[in-house]
Amino acid sequence: MTTKDEIRKALEAVIDPELRQNIVELDMVRSIEIADGGVVDVMVSLTTPGCPIRSHFQTGVTNAVKALDGVTAVNVGFDVLNDQQKAAIQRKLGGGALPNGALAQVDNVICIGSGKGGVGKSTLTANLAAALAAEGKAVGVLDADVWGYSIPRMFGLGAQRPPVSAERKIVPLEAEGGIKVMSIGFFLGEEDSAVVWRGPMLHKALTQFLEDVDWGVLDYLLIDLPPGTGDVSMTLAQLLPQAQFLIVTTPQPTAQKVARRSAEMAEKVNLEICGVVENMSGFTTPSGERFQLFGEGGGQALADELEVPLLGKVPLTMPLREGADSGQPLVFADPDDPAAQGIRHAARGLVALAPVKLPPRPPALDVIPPTAPAPKGMTLPMAG
Ligand SMILES: Nc1ncnc2c1ncn2[C@@H]1O[C@H](COP(=O)(O)OP(=O)(O)O)[C@@H](O)[C@H]1O
Ligand SMILES: [Mg+2]
Repeated sequence: MTTKDEIRKALEAVIDPELRQNIVELDMVRSIEIADGGVVDVMVSLTTPGCPIRSHFQTGVTNAVKALDGVTAVNVGFDVLNDQQKAAIQRKLGGGALPNGALAQVDNVICIGSGKGGVGKSTLTANLAAALAAEGKAVGVLDADVWGYSIPRMFGLGAQRPPVSAERKIVPLEAEGGIKVMSIGFFLGEEDSAVVWRGPMLHKALTQFLEDVDWGVLDYLLIDLPPGTGDVSMTLAQLLPQAQFLIVTTPQPTAQKVARRSAEMAEKVNLEICGVVENMSGFTTPSGERFQLFGEGGGQALADELEVPLLGKVPLTMPLREGADSGQPLVFADPDDPAAQGIRHAARGLVALAPVKLPPRPPALDVIPPTAPAPKGMTLPMAG
């Protein structure tokens, strides 16, 4: 009769098609039991409960084990990897902090997040970038909302794919003000928009956005986070321990509760919270009448609670929404619009938060010849 070791050996033939390693190597085989009569139970741990390639594993494991001597039946069970096990896989796939040198020329990394969607994170990210650029800063924007990317639209980009440089780096697209923009949306067609990102793949894609993109010298890299407090933020925190966290909230108390949750997460993953921006704070009619549509004071209350500055209050204005839809950040189109003013105020606040904690720059960067990294197995679909 076949032994557990032989079964384990046979399972090396089962490859995770996305991670391109076998499930034994990835430590996804949780248990193997051999019962009387040659019935074998194999338990496989998946990266997510809704893993789309479950049936691939089911068939792969069954076929690999059934072929062994004395096996009469194979039962395949599934459970989900815990966070430690996922982290171990990520390390195996080359995770952990970015290697020395990646992003070495980026002074400030600011993740823009909030507990929920629709509070204006992406709109504020695009316009904060515009405001920082207008202040003469070199700015990049990374769209980390891989499930609901909207940054390409907000900058009027997306028709082209980012080119690849001679050094095999992905070159960000450039928006007005020289803002360097990178988004998964540049690589996906309409039909791909339902891509399911599993933990380790997500980690790999985000790593590539940071390592394999030619960000060059930047004063600010703004990262637009997806809603919620999940995998993306955890991964970025792991890759970018120097990053700061800017929280967007709306004035009403419930939104504040959600934003507080992201703050707790930022603390958990050890990212420094640099401030709060209150969005949708009031609406002023053309005749000057002011309405507090979403209540009042939420941003200040949250900032007080977190002991960080309230960097700005951004009112609701129609041009801000129109600019986001038409692909020209309002800060460029009409810097005097009340919302644009609020955002410019926040941007100046960010700049004033000096002294910022900088990661040490590698010494005499400009005398070291650029070493072209060996092309890696690109997982992003590339142009050309
Ligand atoms: N202050 C504002 N005034 C008017 N419209 C806004 C404002 N902030 C956000 N919006 C609009 O609200 C919608 C959601 O904003 P978005 O930035 O996509 O949110 P998130 O990224 O948090 O999901 C967009 O249509 C955006 O243009
Ligand atoms: Mg968004």
